[in-house]
Amino acid sequence: MTNTDVVVVGSGIAGLFFALKVAKYGTVTLVTKKSRPESSTNWAQGGVAAVFGTDDSPDLHIEDTLVAGAGLCHPDAVDVLVREGPSRVRELIELGVRFTQEGEDLSLGREGGHSRRRIVRAADLTGREIERGLLHAVAENPKIHILENHAAVDLLTATDPGTLGERCCGVLVLDTEAGELKPFLARAVMLATGGCGQVYRHTTNPSIATGDGVAMAYRAGAKVANMEFVQFHPTALYPARDHTFLISEAVRGEGAVLRRRDGAAFMDAYHPLASLAPRDVVARAIDTEMKRSGDPYVNLDCSAIPEAEIRARFPNILRETGERGMDMLREPIPVVPAAHYLCGGVLTDTDGRSSVPGLYAAGETACTGVHGANRLASNSLLEALVFAHRAAERIGPQLAVTRMLQPAAPPPQPTGEAAADAELEAQREVIRNVMWDSVGIVRSGARLADAEARLRPISELVNGLWATARPTAELVEVRNVIQTALLIVRCASRRHESRGLHFDEDHPYRDNEHMLRDTIIVR
Ligand code: FAD
Ligand code: SIN
Repeated sequence: MTNTDVVVVGSGIAGLFFALKVAKYGTVTLVTKKSRPESSTNWAQGGVAAVFGTDDSPDLHIEDTLVAGAGLCHPDAVDVLVREGPSRVRELIELGVRFTQEGEDLSLGREGGHSRRRIVRAADLTGREIERGLLHAVAENPKIHILENHAAVDLLTATDPGTLGERCCGVLVLDTEAGELKPFLARAVMLATGGCGQVYRHTTNPSIATGDGVAMAYRAGAKVANMEFVQFHPTALYPARDHTFLISEAVRGEGAVLRRRDGAAFMDAYHPLASLAPRDVVARAIDTEMKRSGDPYVNLDCSAIPEAEIRARFPNILRETGERGMDMLREPIPVVPAAHYLCGGVLTDTDGRSSVPGLYAAGETACTGVHGANRLASNSLLEALVFAHRAAERIGPQLAVTRMLQPAAPPPQPTGEAAADAELEAQREVIRNVMWDSVGIVRSGARLADAEARLRPISELVNGLWATARPTAELVEVRNVIQTALLIVRCASRRHESRGLHFDEDHPYRDNEHMLRDTIIVR
């Protein structure tokens, strides 16, 4: 049994920034399920949206965020995001993160849905630079202890003698190298486990994105919201290799145009902003064009961007496409939509608090309300910074007066034979295909019902294994993948309209009379 003031789960931007902030107040143990940089953060390209431009204002950023969110953003959360964001970006710079400059000023990029240039970036490797800077700062902080290859499995709860309600008092963790389950007790637990793109066949997300935080919080009785709003990024490189490589929206921001394979630009027919329309519109348009033509991809024509600018702004994209035998300077590159970002998650307030006392969430795992039904590009790194900071400021001063509790029953330790990874991998493939085919960019009542019918038996199988088999890293993930997939199906089945990222062909219009609300579910 390990005791620490705060346990943080996850070493992306949210977990690391939170750990640095809360370490001012107490001891921190940060568990991460693979090596420390493995995270979506490390792959982020475009940048961090924040108001720095002389022609920009918080009101404009708020307005753009609300428009993208299609009526479901929480205005108080958006206000906090936009007004506190620039200070958090400055703190990153003070910590040593090096963003691209233009002279004395930050270089600001443009992305879809933004009415001004406001994307702070480090060329096209923004996330890698942020992750590097934060990991460096964390390594120098003696109050933060990082454990790699430690996968959080379940949250521990106990009855709080003060309130007589249930309180989160720690995390059960699998040391994936030793194969051992270890309880960690804490006064507060922060879930910063990222998204769930791995629930889908095609995704821009790295392998760690299996929905663990949302699944754990749900099992612990926390409210989970808006899981139907999964963002599909319009431009992932086709074909995928080991994982799908993203072609940043910033490339369209600088002038690249989407074309059919016959060369015709098609986005004008779908939206006045054409290739820079909001992501949901672009992803659906590409999906429609691909279905109509039978082509497996559409093209992104970068010829309007001067070569020097491509070399300076998108060196990594140029290199990655080049390694695949493509020349983006001279020919269009093939792209397809892929699952990219989870707007829903563990429901939190603007201080990161979930509905279970003692349990907090930040970053992609959380549903703070800032994204509503659709996230504005580059608002997620900002969200992670702003709300991780606020959670630390909320938790820190409370640590001295918060008791360490013991869970009522010791967590069970199944000792049966471990399930074969190959069998679990096969189930995972089925889940990913069902989700892509039936719970993807365009949904319908019949397809959602079919998905549920095909996913339920897998859930029963996996739960049966969980009760008896010795836990492994693969079993932990498959259990969370199936749980998360079912949460997405459940939320999608409750939204009988089309709004933002949820498009239901049985109800192709917005229904503000009945559906202008979050979809909230509790175990
Ligand atoms: P992550 O960075 O994903 O970190 C999650 C951490 O939790 C990882 O360390 C993981 O190993 C760990 N973890 C997960 N489960 C467990 C468990 N059970 N136990 C222990 N540890 C666990 N957003 C922008 O704002 N701008 C961009 O330009 C941008 N570009 C993107 C490009 C790509 C290719 C992708 C995939 C995403 C992009 N996004 C962008 C989205 C953004 O990167 C993510 O939303 C953000 O980085 C999430 O940060 P996080 O800290 O919440 O999670
Ligand atoms: C991108 O660079 O297109 C990704 C930006 C984001 O997801 O916010």
